[in-house]
Amino acid sequence: SMLVRSSASAKQSLLRRNFSTGSVPERKVAILGAAGGIGQPLALLMKLNPLVSSLSLYDIANTPGVAADVGHINTRSQVVGYMGDDNLAKALEGADLVIIPAGVPRKPGMTRDDLFNINAGIVKNLCSAIAKYCPHALVNMISNPVNSTVPIAAEIFKKAGMYDEKKLFGVTTLDVVRAKTFYAGKANVPVAEVNVPVIGGHAGVTILPLFSQATPQANLSGDVLTALTKRTQDGGTEVVEAKAGKGSATLSMAYAGALFADACLKGLNGVPDVVECSYVQSTVTELPFFASKVRLGKNGVEEVLDLGPLSDFEKEGLEALKPELKSSIEKGVKFANQ
Ligand code: NAI
Repeated sequence: SMLVRSSASAKQSLLRRNFSTGSVPERKVAILGAAGGIGQPLALLMKLNPLVSSLSLYDIANTPGVAADVGHINTRSQVVGYMGDDNLAKALEGADLVIIPAGVPRKPGMTRDDLFNINAGIVKNLCSAIAKYCPHALVNMISNPVNSTVPIAAEIFKKAGMYDEKKLFGVTTLDVVRAKTFYAGKANVPVAEVNVPVIGGHAGVTILPLFSQATPQANLSGDVLTALTKRTQDGGTEVVEAKAGKGSATLSMAYAGALFADACLKGLNGVPDVVECSYVQSTVTELPFFASKVRLGKNGVEEVLDLGPLSDFEKEGLEALKPELKSSIEKGVKFANQ
């Protein structure tokens, strides 16, 4: 029995050793559009993430500089910059997670849909490359209009025969980040404790924060809730106007993108109960894509959660957002198939 015990304890210490070194798997993360306003701070934040072992920074220009700069930070990941179409394959090969903030941002007076003509083509090309070079990677779509670029990606992946709806995510985390910040301000509760689900899509009225489900609870009046909803929906425009022609949210978006990517990596690594809102293929409403709470796991989406109880105001908002979201989805599908 001594022998058994000592061999068991040897096995345990081996397991423990495995745990301390091998428990954080190798993960390659690729950022497409890595030299942009979002891409650069997102590259910085992903370089700080200990779950990343390889950080691949791709853009059509300026990635050698960004990679050299970020690469000097003394954290786990190896950083490589890739520039131009000829290097896209290498940027993607072996990636576990691809984050896409490539494309043009809004200027004052523009809607996200005004970006469609330029960004749809960029997303189409990048997704064709993903289908070829890293078909099993999770994809985090940041490029706007997200309501359409996610359906475009899905169609491109279907054509390539590798579409897995569990692996495609529209990043709506910034809407959640904003809803939390604005709610905490009005509810007078510590912002770090706040949770607010945000459902629907990622543009104007399609963004629907569910303040009735916010925690910690606060007794906010209907007028305040209406104003909070509107401010969350117009949060992006608030930044676009404040930047006065110099682009849209980049720093808060990089934070939100890094948060969502971290959740995806945790899910891949088997961490239980990782739940974030995201715009995914969905059956929670009659629309084929919809943002809601999603449980993340080893294969991406583990479960799309129900919307839960909505207030009358939120029920109205839900019905009101459906026509716009539906037409943005159809526009994306049509573009990808033309
Ligand atoms: P930016 O113009 O500063 O950067 C975009 C980068 O994409 C540039 O470095 C550009 O060279 C690169 N790029 C262009 N074509 C490319 C291609 N074919 N392959 C790889 N890279 C390419 O723009 P910013 O501010 O970083 O915004 C990027 C996108 O993110 C925009 O579409 C914007 O609307 C969107 N966005 C999304 C948010 C969200 O919540 N999902 C929030 C804020 C912005």
